[in-house]
Amino acid sequence: MSIAATDISWASGGEAIVQGVTLEVREGETFGLLGPNGSGKSSLLRVLAGLRVPQSGQVALDGADLRAMAPRRIARRIAVVEQHAATDIAISVIEVVRLGRTPHHGILSGWTAEDDRIVEKALARVDLGHRRNQPFHTLSGGERQRVQLARALAQNPTHLILDEPTNHLDIQHQLEILALVQALPITSIVALHDLNLAAMFCDRLGVMKAGRLIACGAPEDVLSAAMIADVFGVRAHVAPSAHHGRVHVQFLR
Ligand SMILES: Nc1ncnc2c1ncn2[C@@H]1O[C@H](COP(=O)(O)OP(=O)(O)O)[C@@H](O)[C@H]1O
Ligand SMILES: [Mg+2]
Repeated sequence: MSIAATDISWASGGEAIVQGVTLEVREGETFGLLGPNGSGKSSLLRVLAGLRVPQSGQVALDGADLRAMAPRRIARRIAVVEQHAATDIAISVIEVVRLGRTPHHGILSGWTAEDDRIVEKALARVDLGHRRNQPFHTLSGGERQRVQLARALAQNPTHLILDEPTNHLDIQHQLEILALVQALPITSIVALHDLNLAAMFCDRLGVMKAGRLIACGAPEDVLSAAMIADVFGVRAHVAPSAHHGRVHVQFLR
């Protein structure tokens, strides 16, 4: 249940956006992807999800080249929640979550009680069972993100790719969602902006800068004052947390 990228590069309009990234995310691991705006996080996640084909290098899912796999087969394994998963179509919350089941059978055929059970469980996990019949487009930004996560969970994937899943969430739901992702037995790759949440919930972190993966490893090895100054251009103090076994970042001014 690993996902491995070997020397992948992706360019668009002649501009190199992801450059020479080699990365292996191991079975069951929660891997956090950090980096400033425009550093290539979303582009890399799309390549890892098979939604973009890299001009060079390859992505392997449990050793099998993604390019050789049909989209539907990939969708049975990898669920993606994109950064801007906006939809204005008038469908209800539960219908959005049901979409997660489509890779497993046709849209209209083969629906079973087991599918209903999986959909209900996914909705309950993000704490939105009470919204099931509400039109999706009338939800708050944070609720939409949680519904998209429920849709991804209903897909029953072996790999979960989340692009800034917490950016519209209040702090309680940020903590809940990341704790949920960390507790899932599946392999997860999560783009995050909050360095402290990344340190708390991720087993390993990768840092993108100008399209390149410039650091990768355990949070305490990756999150240094020098890296934060270099990549994010801010001064910080990094120390072991007094409250959890990971490091804590304090920003200085
Ligand atoms: N399809 C595209 N065509 C051209 N440029 C793109 C495309 N997608 C992303 N970019 C550019 O690539 C850079 C990295 O974008 P992105 O992967 O979204 O970064 P991040 O998610 O880290 O903010 C940005 O400068 C963005 O404008
Ligand atoms: Mg992005």
